[in-house]
Amino acid sequence: MQSWRASLLRFDEHGHAVFDRDGLLVTGPGADGRTVVLAAGDHATLRARHADVPCTHLPGRIIAPGFIDTHIHYPQTDIIGAPAEGLLPWLEHYTFPHEAQFADPAHAAEVARFFCDELMRQGVTTALTFATSHPASVDALFSEAQRRGLRLITGKVLQDRHSPDGVRDETEQSLIDSETLLNKWHGVDRLGYAITPRFAPSSTEAQLRGAGELAARFPGAWIQSHVAENLDEIAWARALFPDSRSYLAIYADHGLMRRRAVYAHCIHFHDDDRALMRETGTAAAVCPTSNLFLGSGFFDFAGAERARFLHALASDVGGGTSFSPFVTMRAAYFVAREGQTKPGVSLPPERLWWLHTAGAARALDLEGVVGNLQPGCEADFVVLNPEATPLLARRTRAAGSLAELLFALIVLGDDRVVERTVISQAK
Ligand code: GUN
Ligand code: ZN
Repeated sequence: MQSWRASLLRFDEHGHAVFDRDGLLVTGPGADGRTVVLAAGDHATLRARHADVPCTHLPGRIIAPGFIDTHIHYPQTDIIGAPAEGLLPWLEHYTFPHEAQFADPAHAAEVARFFCDELMRQGVTTALTFATSHPASVDALFSEAQRRGLRLITGKVLQDRHSPDGVRDETEQSLIDSETLLNKWHGVDRLGYAITPRFAPSSTEAQLRGAGELAARFPGAWIQSHVAENLDEIAWARALFPDSRSYLAIYADHGLMRRRAVYAHCIHFHDDDRALMRETGTAAAVCPTSNLFLGSGFFDFAGAERARFLHALASDVGGGTSFSPFVTMRAAYFVAREGQTKPGVSLPPERLWWLHTAGAARALDLEGVVGNLQPGCEADFVVLNPEATPLLARRTRAAGSLAELLFALIVLGDDRVVERTVISQAK
């Protein structure tokens, strides 16, 4: 057992922030031997019960749940900041040629190593990430995450049409490869498999149907894809699947909407799409830096809350511009605030933080497992220094409330705030 004394941020079951200015976090082996949170709360209250547990005192620091990135592309680490007219030219000119390199296992392994380093450096301890269409890219990332004990979900990208040589796969083999990888990795240590059709326009009807059948046979596996990101993309998807009621409905029509299905973007929705998300328990991965960078549009947070469908935050690197959860929360605030194309809302900082931790865990069906520091959660956490820069120090010292403190961190923070990232250890 081990304990840490610092300020402590966590969330109750309603998503409300709980903050102990002088808190104590006690961790130790859980039922399966992996390190979990055993107790969390006020230091003065908990101290006596855990007096014999070694304690690391971190004065002036905040311990908070490790962040969860609900949508990211590890193979796009090296194309962050590649400008294009919009999504489709960006895919054609940068993304596909770059992803073709992941046929080489050595290249995939090198990028996977850097990617996991960067996630942890930024305080991200769980990620749902795209690989590429090459099975070797999936093996490389799972191997790297397993070596570190990271909780990570990924899968082989399915794209059997409208994709260039080098990334395009073959329908039948792509489904065989997906099932082989799923059987090899899903549920091993902290790893999970995601059935990963890139997006409807780059899959044939047969490939989407096969993906849906796989999803039905493996209900514990995740599903991830993209939807309703960009107007040109939407028009293309509608033309390719004229029988479906909307772009989103293409996925429902192929058995790809259910709990543990996560769709990136979900910007250009109608209310019947929102209802479909809610009825099926499907989650949206909201990618604000990507949507601003590629000029895709503004996610309607008020609409998502009104329809009560699951949604959480994501970086979407390399369309997204940063691995930092602080940068993503900041951009989410700006996107939510935008009130010209949809209702503008001012998201409270506790809500932004929840959407990247406990709320993200709920979206991924991992509530009570990660994203929080309540007893029983896996002990993934960050140690934050709210005085990491002169301006942060000045601003956070003057904060008169928890909301002000968290807002200052969201508006001014980045990787400099993340002093240490701790992940749950196996026995
Ligand atoms: N739609 C299909 N593929 C992609 C991708 O790699 N990034 C983004 N942002 N959208 C996509
Ligand atoms: Zn994406």
